[in-house]
Amino acid sequence: MAIVWREEYSVDDPDIDEQHQQLFQYLADLEENMKSGVDDAYMRRFLTALGIYTRSHFCFEEIIMRRRACPTAAKNKKQHKELLKAYSQVLQRFEAEGISDDLVQELHDFLKNWLIHHILHTDMGLRDCANVNK
Ligand SMILES: [Fe+2]
Repeated sequence: MAIVWREEYSVDDPDIDEQHQQLFQYLADLEENMKSGVDDAYMRRFLTALGIYTRSHFCFEEIIMRRRACPTAAKNKKQHKELLKAYSQVLQRFEAEGISDDLVQELHDFLKNWLIHHILHTDMGLRDCANVNK
């Protein structure tokens, strides 16, 4: 079952919370489609949309953290780089091998892991600097 965004996941920034909720929505949408089987067209649309959304979200979040001099800014930026690298690897595998249950599951686990480990831990650093230089 998809993880549902809850108030306790809030980083005390309405814009970033909204963007994170959108990422949770991406996972829920993927899981919904996995029930009936993800096809090539869906996978292509999903990866494209996720890539565009993620890049703009990461950029936004990095600017906010830097502006507020968040202690976790550098760690956050480094993890974003790693997440984009992992995303690119899934995309490259899809381009090279096409769709497979294995790849869909890999994408799912990657996204779920990211939501749990990155947003709920690293991005939480925003709470410590939420009111600085707003
Ligand atoms: Fe982040």
